[in-house]
Amino acid sequence: MNAASRPGRLAGRTALITGASRGIGRAIAQRYAEEGAQLFLTATHRALLEETQALAEAQGAKVTLHCADLGQQEAAQAMVDAAIAALGGIDILVNNAGVYKAARLVDTTAEDFDRVMRVNVYGVFHVMQRVLRHMQPRGHGKVVNIASTAGKWGSMNQSAYNASKHAVVGLTRCAALEMGAHGINVNAICPGFVQTDMLQEFRAHGDILGLPFEKVMEAGLARVPLKRFLQPREIAELALYLGAAESDGMTGQTLLLDGGMLMV
Ligand SMILES: NC(=O)c1ccc[n+]([C@@H]2O[C@H](COP(=O)([O-])OP(=O)(O)OC[C@H]3O[C@@H](n4cnc5c(N)ncnc54)[C@H](OP(=O)(O)O)[C@@H]3O)[C@@H](O)[C@H]2O)c1
Repeated sequence: MNAASRPGRLAGRTALITGASRGIGRAIAQRYAEEGAQLFLTATHRALLEETQALAEAQGAKVTLHCADLGQQEAAQAMVDAAIAALGGIDILVNNAGVYKAARLVDTTAEDFDRVMRVNVYGVFHVMQRVLRHMQPRGHGKVVNIASTAGKWGSMNQSAYNASKHAVVGLTRCAALEMGAHGINVNAICPGFVQTDMLQEFRAHGDILGLPFEKVMEAGLARVPLKRFLQPREIAELALYLGAAESDGMTGQTLLLDGGMLMV
């Protein structure tokens, strides 16, 4: 069966997924592959990207890899150009790449603040802008931004990260307003705690609070009505919905998927 004739909810669709080397991005790549999409996957670690590629190709997907630091404007823009060339056009953009930093606001260095903003905000901005310019004349497209519950409320000791995710929520809403008339849907997913490498970085909260990692995790779970961390695959299911035709009537939404931690 050739790539174009594969069945599924994303049959015949092309998707650019950032941060696809592990965690949530890898799960989205796998889920999109299962549903028939052709993929362009990007991150900085080639070997890990190749592992994702193998998983997606096992589902029959055609996959192109590209390594780029999305915190660098020119690299981010060149990555989008490479994706358009490889895919012949982008139907779905998943802006998933992100970094995390735990520190008290008073102790956050300008370097750390800058790094988080460059990847989580400028990276999303540069990639989304270039992709939207491409999608606009085509008259259709789906953008799925991975924000966070941290984009919806305040959290202790992670002000750079929360500020960056509030910015992603803002970019999502503004892009949705401007792109609606062009047939382009722009939505965001706001995950709570998801079992990935990023969760390990919560160790830094323990250092700040003088608590072992287990206690930090216990305190986190205490705020989650479902009393468990989510799996990357659960985020991928919502990313599939937002990338597929089923969500054609939805735009500008920033959907919480957090085990019930935030009810707003
Ligand atoms: N895990 C959670 O609890 C949680 C909760 C809410 C929101 N999120 C958000 O979900 C997204 C995915 O997070 P995750 O949990 O899957 O994290 P993760 O396992 O740490 O993966 C992060 C991904 O982003 C990529 N990345 C990081 N910096 C990059 C850069 N400068 N240029 C290009 N790619 C870069 C990484 O690739 P390389 O390492 O190969 O560069 C990796 O593929 C992030 O936006 C995160 O903020 C996560």
